[in-house]
Amino acid sequence: MKVIWNNQIVDREEVRIDPEDRGYQFGDGIYEVVRAYNGYFFGLDEHVDRLYSSADKIEMKIPQTKEEMKTLMTRLLNESDIQTGNLYLQATRGIASPRNHVYPDMSVLPTITGTVTTVPRDAHKIETGITTITEPDIRWLKCDIKSISLLGNIMAKHEAHKNNAEEAILHRDGIVTECSASNVAIVKDDVIYTHPDGHLILPGVTKIVWLACAKELGIEVKEEPFTLAQLKDADEVFCSSTTIEVMPIHTIDGETVNGGKRGKITAKLADAFKIKIEETCGEI
Ligand code: PDD
Repeated sequence: MKVIWNNQIVDREEVRIDPEDRGYQFGDGIYEVVRAYNGYFFGLDEHVDRLYSSADKIEMKIPQTKEEMKTLMTRLLNESDIQTGNLYLQATRGIASPRNHVYPDMSVLPTITGTVTTVPRDAHKIETGITTITEPDIRWLKCDIKSISLLGNIMAKHEAHKNNAEEAILHRDGIVTECSASNVAIVKDDVIYTHPDGHLILPGVTKIVWLACAKELGIEVKEEPFTLAQLKDADEVFCSSTTIEVMPIHTIDGETVNGGKRGKITAKLADAFKIKIEETCGEI
């Protein structure tokens, strides 16, 4: 398996992760997940922009320019000979010894790693949807940073898994924020509601695309907070991420949404999203 290791593409076996890497010790790092279809990335510019924006927010300086990073990611995809899959890219604040909470000086370079794996598109699930539970959002207050410190997210996801559900819809004091690994939206009376960007959610790249699709389709969107009660009373509910696209939610806490069927607005957005992918990556 080929991987990105700092500025190079190497065999996985060559990588050495230091026990005093700050990503390993403190979860001091950031990441991105980018999807490829037919050997082409979808939304690469937006993902790389968000990576550098996350880096800025934690005062981390990635040595490569954005263009160099895109070249490295594209080389990994091509050299791995993967058509449809997910590229995971991570940048930690590097190796500093002895362990010290204070950021090391800028001469300590970030550790950059990247892997790409084949993951087929689940067209069936995009039509049928997923089961969810609701969970309190116990995460920190800088959820706009795509941090590798994901305990709050994985604990919620694990709770979903224990309850035979695939995703956890998070709420802070009854206000729905996002899911453990995706953004979430509801449809009520033909209007889409989704939490506005800010420090409580990750600004999703997939969301940027479906917001554009909604605009083109003339579907009204209100980027405003909604409550758990509104969630339970919605006509349609869907979540979105790079790996699952526009995904209907058919069950929440054991109760079906829209009789368990994908709603018409969710279907329109999912179809429009697929067309956007195909414009960049060819037929899927
Ligand atoms: N997760 N919110 C959270 C908490 C996420 O982890 C993600 C993505 C999103 C959607 O972002 P985007 O549309 O840019 O993928 C929202 C990725 C896929 C992951 O951690 O695997």
